Amino acid sequence: MNFIKRMNSLANLALTLAWTIGTAGSTLLAQDAEIVIADFEGSSYLDWKANGQAFGDGPAKGTLPNQMAVEGFSGKGFVNSFVGGDKSMGTLVSSDFSIQRNYISFLIGGGKDEEKLALQLWVEGKLVRKATGPNSSPGGSEKLAPEFWDVAEFIGKKASIRIVDQAAGSWGHLNVDHIVQTNSKPLQTQHDVERKFVVDARYLHLPIKNGGPKRMVTLLVEGKPIVRNEIELADDQADWWAPMDVSAWMGKTAVLRVDKLPSNSTALTSIEASNAIKNSENLYSETQRGQFHFSPMRGWNNDPNGMVYYNGEYHLFFQHNPYGWSWGNMHWGHAVSKDMVHWEELGDKLLPDEQGPMFSGCAVVDWKNSSGFGKDGKPPLILLYTAAGNPTVQSLAWSTDGRSFTKYSGNPIIPQITAGNRDPKVIWHAPTKQWVMVLYVEKPAGRHTVHILTSTDLKQWKVASVVEGDPMGRPFLFECPDMFELPVDGNGRDKRWVLTAANSEYALGSFDGKKFVPEQTRLAGHRGRGFYAAQTFSDIPPTVGRTDDRRIQIGWFQTETRGMPFNQSMTLPLELGLITTEDGPRMTFQPVKELQSLRTRTHNFNAMDLSPGAPNPLDKVKAELVEVRVEFEPGTAHEIVFNIRDVMVIYYPAKQEISVAGHTAPAPLRDGKQSIIIYCDRIGTEVFASDGLTYVPTPYNTKADNKNLYFETRGGTAKVLSLEVHELKSAWNKP
Ligand code: FRU
Repeated sequence: MNFIKRMNSLANLALTLAWTIGTAGSTLLAQDAEIVIADFEGSSYLDWKANGQAFGDGPAKGTLPNQMAVEGFSGKGFVNSFVGGDKSMGTLVSSDFSIQRNYISFLIGGGKDEEKLALQLWVEGKLVRKATGPNSSPGGSEKLAPEFWDVAEFIGKKASIRIVDQAAGSWGHLNVDHIVQTNSKPLQTQHDVERKFVVDARYLHLPIKNGGPKRMVTLLVEGKPIVRNEIELADDQADWWAPMDVSAWMGKTAVLRVDKLPSNSTALTSIEASNAIKNSENLYSETQRGQFHFSPMRGWNNDPNGMVYYNGEYHLFFQHNPYGWSWGNMHWGHAVSKDMVHWEELGDKLLPDEQGPMFSGCAVVDWKNSSGFGKDGKPPLILLYTAAGNPTVQSLAWSTDGRSFTKYSGNPIIPQITAGNRDPKVIWHAPTKQWVMVLYVEKPAGRHTVHILTSTDLKQWKVASVVEGDPMGRPFLFECPDMFELPVDGNGRDKRWVLTAANSEYALGSFDGKKFVPEQTRLAGHRGRGFYAAQTFSDIPPTVGRTDDRRIQIGWFQTETRGMPFNQSMTLPLELGLITTEDGPRMTFQPVKELQSLRTRTHNFNAMDLSPGAPNPLDKVKAELVEVRVEFEPGTAHEIVFNIRDVMVIYYPAKQEISVAGHTAPAPLRDGKQSIIIYCDRIGTEVFASDGLTYVPTPYNTKADNKNLYFETRGGTAKVLSLEVHELKSAWNKP
């Protein structure tokens, strides 16, 4: 059979094959034999002609450099127009063949654009059929999926196939393989398949297959489309079930409409309704669930959004894909907490709409009701977010109870500046009595800028200035900007403005209500891995006994949790500060004091001189969730070493560096001493050193049964001034 396939891949030749193939005991009639038009198994395209750059010299043998893993092709080779990346374009054209079967089936994947990314069938000089890939927004999957055309009406006619890549942006490529003429009807793909529900419970449970083909699923209520999501629906066995919250439409008729479904798919029929999350017996105690890091019950999270203290609660909104394990369908999920440690997830509050998916943004309390959305003397909570459609705009939603949110009817409040504008973060600037927004604006050629806009009512904004870069004009701040003022050494009279962005680098400078003037070029923020798009809370109430309010940041902690019905989480809440160093003021990160409520059992050790070969002081402590605090003078030790459940945390006094799980960061001694704080959760460790100058988040999947802790020195004796180990409890239990 292989031989025949290879022969057939010479498209023309294939058509002359008219024989019967004897197989063990059965006979396949010539007129029903499959005709392989192309299987792309060789090193060249044979009689297909490639133009442009996108297709290279021959079929790809798998994933190309910088491409996500490609799966689902047949055999070893396939057409992959990612040669040279998304930006390359071209066409690949077969020679003519005659249509001899009722169907042409093929495998297709990659970007979605019917015009620019298409597999086309041309018959007698006319374009008669086309197909494209499934992905139109970032995320998604490179998987090829089977599709077919009914071509019975063209039998006997001369045809050719053209693979077109005229797209250069994100998902600007196509994957194609195994193009076959056949008489056995491939499984029918049904279009716009619907199922009706009378809503009598909070959730509809959608079956999800991670990495499966994406289908557009529309929720309609009483005939009106409410929201559209691209969902990897499971056609048979689900990896997990995504709850769709339909409680807003109790008693009404809801319809789920799927754009494409194979006829044997059980995706729609398997959906059940209930008031609880499906398979939730072990909710929050799953083996890879961070126990004191926020993560959504189900689905994917990325950036923290809308962080604010309002009506006695901390609010955390977050970039949420409720229907996928990977990025996509951006909603704003919502959780509240009394202490930033124990969170209760409430459900999604901003759903994608006709302005696009809901990208990152912020929240502020409008104390003086400048927006007019307040009611009965209650200051409104205002959300400012990016609606990332085309155009990509900034919009507003408001609430007076911190639970239900209404999108402003005058949206958008800021039109598109450039297609890449996003992630508004707003503060109240008391000296000039106005709202100030920092907004990421991507200029041509990917040049990163932060636009500073001002407003008196949160609805009308004007651009006050543009931060093009550091004092040398080099761009340095990317998406998700944040700007706030911090005291130096806790001294209310000496302050600096901090402008920071997604990768946590920052600039210190001055700000007069219109213009940020940086003092120097970029400074390093966190020193670890997997920390991104952090944001600080707005409106945290003043702390008794302090001259300044706390500035508390939470970042997106990028730990993959494979096999779980959720993915990624948030970091610990981090109190930011500025302390004086030899180089000037520098930012510090400290775990918030509220985390102390997690401690269940404390092991306090006496000060000690620790020499190589000494017994492990932590021998008796066994803990899964753990906080370690140590202060030492390095003495003659070359290395001060902690092994926390297999995560090595090593301090090197000579280099004044700390290494966490092999990742090294500068960690200067402070007054000849070093103090280190280690938090270890199921999804990683966060290490703080040098009075907070060094913060090393490290994503990591721990092994539940390893509860061992070691502490030792190498090369000499260290003077341990204090050592505490705290066993911690899960934050998912009510405090
Ligand atoms: C950062 C980011 C933001 C955007 C959001 C979309 O991770 O790309 O710039 O608003 O994620 O989910």
